[in-house]
Amino acid sequence: MVESLHDVPGQTCTTFVSGVGEVYFNAQRYFLTISEELRNTFSFDIDGRLMSAFLGGVNYRRGLKSDILMKYFADGNAKTRRFLSLHENRKLVDDVLTRVLRIRDGVDSSMQADIVQWLDTILTWNVDRLQSEGTTFQNIYKPISILPPDQYLSVVLQAAEGCSWNQCTFCTFYRDRKFRIKSPHDFRQHARQIKDFLGRSIGLRKSIFLADANALIIPQRRLVELLKVVHEEFPIETPQAHADYTLKGIYSFLDIFGAEKKTLENYRELRELGLKRIYIGLETGDNALFKLLNKPGSPDECVEAVRTIKAAGINIGIIILAGVGGDRFYHQHVHQSLQAIGAMGLGTGDLVYISPLMLSGQDAYSCSMRDLGVRTLSPAEVTTQFATIKTGLKAIYPEGPKVALYHIEEFIY
Ligand SMILES: C[S@@+](CC[C@H](N)C(=O)[O-])C[C@H]1O[C@@H](n2cnc3c(N)ncnc32)[C@H](O)[C@@H]1O
Ligand code: SF4
Repeated sequence: MVESLHDVPGQTCTTFVSGVGEVYFNAQRYFLTISEELRNTFSFDIDGRLMSAFLGGVNYRRGLKSDILMKYFADGNAKTRRFLSLHENRKLVDDVLTRVLRIRDGVDSSMQADIVQWLDTILTWNVDRLQSEGTTFQNIYKPISILPPDQYLSVVLQAAEGCSWNQCTFCTFYRDRKFRIKSPHDFRQHARQIKDFLGRSIGLRKSIFLADANALIIPQRRLVELLKVVHEEFPIETPQAHADYTLKGIYSFLDIFGAEKKTLENYRELRELGLKRIYIGLETGDNALFKLLNKPGSPDECVEAVRTIKAAGINIGIIILAGVGGDRFYHQHVHQSLQAIGAMGLGTGDLVYISPLMLSGQDAYSCSMRDLGVRTLSPAEVTTQFATIKTGLKAIYPEGPKVALYHIEEFIY
């Protein structure tokens, strides 16, 4: 007898479907991947929602908002990313579901019952139903503007909304909302709505991300109350009888200004409550450039804060910008950023992200740089700066932290 694919994750099987060719199925516990001839590939969550597709050489990722990010290599090998228009989005979903229907109609009676059942679940979805899921999502959340790349598969909980500072010249992520901290009651309701929304597919998620931009600025007592709500609502690190999944810990952003305000004891308490890594945007280690960005705090305060957080046993994710300060600040940005990050005493559990600066040209940062007569770096110069910083960090820390690209245009939740 064929065992249930949900009970035995990681099962694969193939079948020949007339008009399609060899079709490969890979059933994991919380998602199914279908591949037509190992060329076109589609993934669906345990409830049958489309998650991603690779079709005609183009990568697509569908977010919970029902938006779809497309990534491909354009002429000249430049990586291009953009969100599909509503029309394109509907066309793609239709195309994928039509392909699944053709496979469903073509599989013979010897096909494993679980696969057939999974195909039927996928086919209960259509473009409108998926779009209406997106609307539900937007009723539960304020826009999720950005996450660290290793947290795209987290359960985001908006303990606070917006950014308590909201004035850095280059950052427009949270300009659309006022900073607000949720009460434990509101936060619990929010958490429950999210659990209902994610359904069984919550098992795909790895961790909790406490949003928005600097949730850790929440005063310690309130923050502890909110973290206790997280533990009551979700299994963090230890399994709970009512859930068939376990999340690996809690993660959050903090700005330097907020980082100053918590003590070593405060951070120890947060670590005890499952906080695993704090992400801080240093952006640059150069004092003069840092001031021009209108970041709160200073690079020295950032180093100090990181050392305190690490002494409490919490890992760090540092973000710096590539291309910031253009030609005028090029060398001092590289040099001082390496100095500052080198003084933090980072280790293998930490991360450094390098984010190529992306701007509209109409923002406060671009205006200030134009006033100073600073030339914007070309994409090739930004790439070179990225590589120089990465190499410099490897020389300082041969054993770690991991250094990776943080491309804000690749973000989708
Ligand atoms: C939510 S913030 C970081 C956390 C915290 N609020 C702070 O400032 O330290 C996310 C990160 O996105 C990056 N970012 C913001 N605007 C950007 C832009 N226009 N281009 C590239 N990266 C940007 C910055 O590196 C910033 O630190
Ligand atoms: S970089 Fe961080 S602190 Fe600055 S405005 Fe953006 S989210 Fe707020």
